[in-house]
Amino acid sequence: MGVKIAIGGKGGVGKTTVCAIWAKLFSEDGLDVLAIDADSSVSLSLAFGIPFEKTPKPLIEMKELIGERSGTGKNAVGAYFRLNPKVSDLPEQFWLDLGKVKLLVLGAITQAGAGCACAEGAFLKALLTHTILQRQEVVLVDLAAGVECMGRASVQGIDAMVVVVEPGARSIETANSVAAMANELGIKTVGVIGNKITDKSQIDVIKSGLAKQSSVVWLGALPYSKTLQQADLKREPVIDADKKIVKELTKAKNKLMELISG
Ligand SMILES: Nc1ncnc2c1ncn2[C@@H]1O[C@H](COP(=O)(O)OP(=O)(O)OP(=O)(O)O)[C@@H](O)[C@H]1O
Ligand SMILES: [Mg+2]
Repeated sequence: MGVKIAIGGKGGVGKTTVCAIWAKLFSEDGLDVLAIDADSSVSLSLAFGIPFEKTPKPLIEMKELIGERSGTGKNAVGAYFRLNPKVSDLPEQFWLDLGKVKLLVLGAITQAGAGCACAEGAFLKALLTHTILQRQEVVLVDLAAGVECMGRASVQGIDAMVVVVEPGARSIETANSVAAMANELGIKTVGVIGNKITDKSQIDVIKSGLAKQSSVVWLGALPYSKTLQQADLKREPVIDADKKIVKELTKAKNKLMELISG
């Protein structure tokens, strides 16, 4: 079975960038990869350089499919719905085939508080649980920002939670919350990647800000990169943007794999 990794952190810290680059790196190791966009604003496909019009529609927006699988009928609304809808056939049907990397766009529940107790929530949870527990590929889940209900549902059973942190107090506090949540859920490995670093001293500030969470492991630091930012603006694949970033993320990936395999 391939490893299952979720990537979390505050909004805009670089989760999607890390996810897209790691997907490519794992595939270059000869592994099949399932990259899952579990964010409400479709962006993982952009990081692969896929134009917006070729990005698959998020599964969460497929009301008819959700209604059919959940037993609520066409509109996916109803007091009663299946907590365990059949989903095992859906990845192959709906992913975008990028060769060794397959991109599955799930989306996220956006209505505050509605995350768990609705047909869509149960459907997403079932799909994530299925991919995490049953699929053979390396699974990388690009999580929605912050810490909320869907985040919890989507990470149960993963091998590692990786939190991306930029030099900033709110980003550090979100990382602490995500790490605490991962511990609560019994996720064995929690790694941290420092991103957008402009000065080495920022690494120490981030590390000491994370010291409360004794279980987190530092995986590496990525410099602030103008070329990466530029690639994003030009909608180019992030993997080709900056060799230094790719090199640091290769090291971080190897370190994470060592931790996971104990
Ligand atoms: N090391 C870096 N140097 C410069 N810019 C970066 C770096 N890492 C990420 N960025 C830029 O920061 C922005 C946010 O990155 P990204 O989309 O990967 O973050 P995110 O955490 O997934 O955001 P969101 O919470 O919106 O999903 C993008 O414009 C990206 O190109
Ligand atoms: Mg993102």
